[in-house]
Amino acid sequence: MTLSAENQNKLKDIKSILYGMEIDYERGNIDHGLDKIKTDIPLIDLHHQELLELVITIFKMLDSSKLNENKLKSLLEDLIVYSLEHFAYEEKLMQDAEYPDINKHKHQHNNFNLKLNCFLSELNAKVELYDYAIRLNLWLVEWYSSEILHNDRKMALFLKRKRIKLYAVAGGIGICLVAILLIFIYRKT
Ligand SMILES: [Fe+2]
Repeated sequence: MTLSAENQNKLKDIKSILYGMEIDYERGNIDHGLDKIKTDIPLIDLHHQELLELVITIFKMLDSSKLNENKLKSLLEDLIVYSLEHFAYEEKLMQDAEYPDINKHKHQHNNFNLKLNCFLSELNAKVELYDYAIRLNLWLVEWYSSEILHNDRKMALFLKRKRIKLYAVAGGIGICLVAILLIFIYRKT
């Protein structure tokens, strides 16, 4: 299959964004421990791995010119379901930690869901499959790269710092209680 110059460029862009995330797409699966995309929140890292594997499956169909409309539709539906689950988890963590950028982050999640549903409706209508899939894949890798490398890592850093502060406060309270107890015992004897 001969690709138009525009699609060749989009394919190159997708590869370079994946490369920027240090994802070795040729291996087929993503190493959960990849430093570049790691947030150190295990469930978030696992979700990202699963979501990116779906995106890479679309990319591999494009790269090998083996596009299948039914398979593409089922991948898109999986992405919608998994993304909802993932966003709900992130939003709960942000809410519990009183993350100051929660509204901005939630807004980005909502926009993503809306756009992904638009892509699904578009697929249900008549589309030129290769052009459609490459546009979808480029948008997905751009979105995940920005979401994971910037927004999620920033959020994860805040959550970690907040947790460290909470541990420090709890440690301080513990020390005070032990001191009071020791004073109490000392006075009794
Ligand atoms: Fe995320």
